[in-house]
Amino acid sequence: MLDLTPTPTPVVIATMRDLKKKDKLIEAAGDTYGKTLMLLPLDVCSDESVKQCINNVKDRHIDILINNAGVGLLGPVESISIEEMKKVFETNFFGVVRMIKEVMPDMKKRRSGHIVVMSSVMGLQGVVFNDVYTASKFAMEGFCESMAVQLMKFNIRLSMIEPGPVHTEFETKMMEDVAKMEYPGVDADTVRYFKDVYLPSSIDIFDAMGQMPDDIAKCIKKVIESSSPRFRNLTNNLYTPIVALKYADETGGLSVNTFYNLLFNFGPLMHITMSILKCLTCSCLRRRTISPN
Ligand SMILES: NC(=O)c1ccc[n+]([C@@H]2O[C@H](COP(=O)([O-])OP(=O)(O)OC[C@H]3O[C@@H](n4cnc5c(N)ncnc54)[C@H](OP(=O)(O)O)[C@@H]3O)[C@@H](O)[C@H]2O)c1
Repeated sequence: MLDLTPTPTPVVIATMRDLKKKDKLIEAAGDTYGKTLMLLPLDVCSDESVKQCINNVKDRHIDILINNAGVGLLGPVESISIEEMKKVFETNFFGVVRMIKEVMPDMKKRRSGHIVVMSSVMGLQGVVFNDVYTASKFAMEGFCESMAVQLMKFNIRLSMIEPGPVHTEFETKMMEDVAKMEYPGVDADTVRYFKDVYLPSSIDIFDAMGQMPDDIAKCIKKVIESSSPRFRNLTNNLYTPIVALKYADETGGLSVNTFYNLLFNFGPLMHITMSILKCLTCSCLRRRTISPN
């Protein structure tokens, strides 16, 4: 929950596509529910739902829009249908575009507003077997990087939040999907690389580097409270060198070769490195770093 304390207290409008899931939120909201916290239905994949949601806000007045909805997709591309890929883009890319299109004209008229978009480290750096998810976040980064310039002319800020792994239902849902995968049309070597090389490394990385949802909420709070919010906001400093690799070599060779070696040549070494990192970043030693700071 974001606690914004200026006077008068701003109203937070939480949204979800299935209001039957509201109990946990209402419990966490306590007394604020119905006073400074409202709840509206919203499916970012539906033009109609997006319009209705914004029309239900008093005077359609939104100061800060936080786009958080997103879905993951993991696995060898050969086994993923174009329909499944389009669904990811429908949520992760067009969902954000729909929301921005709906609030932007009013923000432009008022010459104020802040749009926050939940991107990912995978919006900046490709990751093997996350090809489609990564592409959807790259698309959004490109869209927003372009929009930010125009919006600045209207005094509207745009900020990207770029977390690495975060322990949420996202991780659980992806692992459940992987457990059900059948890999039609995928050769045996690729299935082996995915199941025996990529997945164990991915679990190690989540274990060692994963942040908690609260860490991301605190980062968003800092961004929206800032008088000059940054456009890009990596939430996990451990990812800064990884993202820097691609900018250090304009041919792209450095990042592609590094990721290849990490996965296929230094797999066991990576497992040990991640175990050491996990110890070093364990809560008993950790001075948790939340960017931007
Ligand atoms: N977890 C990570 O490791 C990680 C890392 C980097 C970035 N991110 C990004 O962080 C954001 C939040 O993800 P999370 O980790 O909190 O995952 P999550 O627990 O799966 O939450 C995703 C939320 O998006 C909602 N959603 C999906 N499709 C929607 C739609 N069409 N309309 C409205 N809401 C929709 C889901 O609602 P339902 O409950 O109805 O499905 C769910 O509440 C996503 O954009 C994700 O890409 C996550």
